[in-house]
Amino acid sequence: MRGDSATGLSLSGISHAFGKNRVLDNVSVDVAPGELVCLLGPSGCGKTTLLRIAAGLEPLQTGRVAIDGVAIAEGGKAGELPPERRGIGLMFQDYALFPHRNVRDNIAFGIDKKKGGRRADWIDDALAQMGLTNHADAYPHTLSGGQQQRVALIRALAPGPNILLLDEPFSGLDVGRRAQIRADTLDFVKKTGVAALMVTHDPEEAMFMADRIFVMNDGRVVQSGSPVDLYFQPANAFVAELFGPVNRFVGTVHDGSVETPLGKFNAGTLAEGSAAEVMIRPEAFRLSTEDSEPKPMPGDPDDLVVVSQPLEVLTARPLGRSSYLLLSIGNGCSVETRIPGAFLPGAGSMVRAGINPRLAHVFAAAAR
Ligand SMILES: Nc1ncnc2c1ncn2[C@@H]1O[C@H](COP(=O)(O)OP(=O)(O)OP(=O)(O)O)[C@@H](O)[C@H]1O
Ligand SMILES: [Mg+2]
Repeated sequence: MRGDSATGLSLSGISHAFGKNRVLDNVSVDVAPGELVCLLGPSGCGKTTLLRIAAGLEPLQTGRVAIDGVAIAEGGKAGELPPERRGIGLMFQDYALFPHRNVRDNIAFGIDKKKGGRRADWIDDALAQMGLTNHADAYPHTLSGGQQQRVALIRALAPGPNILLLDEPFSGLDVGRRAQIRADTLDFVKKTGVAALMVTHDPEEAMFMADRIFVMNDGRVVQSGSPVDLYFQPANAFVAELFGPVNRFVGTVHDGSVETPLGKFNAGTLAEGSAAEVMIRPEAFRLSTEDSEPKPMPGDPDDLVVVSQPLEVLTARPLGRSSYLLLSIGNGCSVETRIPGAFLPGAGSMVRAGINPRLAHVFAAAAR
């Protein structure tokens, strides 16, 4: 938290209920100018509601919304600043372009140059940067989903807002084009220097786009931090599982570590004798053929957790950039692994395994 007087957008202590359904519980999120913050969480956890409160589309019940240190809405107090006076650009999932205006008129709509709105040359530059120069006179229904997305983004930024709110801006796009459009969007948003708050439920998208991620569950922020922090140091099993599949083991803490069929993992501060769960990511595994030792990859700590026994390959499938291997660990149990490149030993062959402990997360066992 950067404190109340910080520039950019500051949402503090926001709680919200629809009737008896409490959907936000004491949520605080702040976004600095030039920063892109993602709200990441499962469907129904309150992401859109928080964005709508920030925009003034949903009346604030409890908490405080401030822009550049000035409160524009405070729970229980009259005089909320109306949406159009907040200097906030909005882009929602459906883009909401005006069907009877062409691209240029869609973008120019609502620009007030006296209030810092962009001029025609800014719009020309933006269209060029987004590859839309030849579509300036086109109507929305003649554009692809990706092109409409870009028009909606330029339109949201054309009035020159200091804050940009994006709600699942890529969800309507097919996976193939999403990566490029994400990269272009990130570049474009960063150049404007706005404080951007983006909602997504795609962890990879959040990691790609965000300077910081706020993970939400059930109306609360469960963890916030940089993408690397969240991926390597999830605060709990929920966050660990949100960032991708895991192989899960349960065990008891003994002498500071938890024993699993794959070896011992550091239990951190968990109490001696307590129940723990170990979550090992498929990409934690380093494999080698039976006659050699698994080696750390660049970025790994020197000491892998070495699996003492060779493991039988049940399945090995190519995924293009990586290979998926299902390995038997005995007693009818197996682990999923993901290895960079093409490592495709035949089913029934044996491999040796080491595990990057930074990708094995240990938590107090949760009741399930
Ligand atoms: N206007 C409303 N009236 C009543 N309940 C609402 C209203 N808007 C949202 N809700 C409820 O509030 C909860 C949070 O909804 P919200 O749209 O904020 O979730 P979300 O995190 O954006 O989910 P998704 O990822 O599916 O878009 C849900 O249970 C939803 O049904
Ligand atoms: Mg939503």
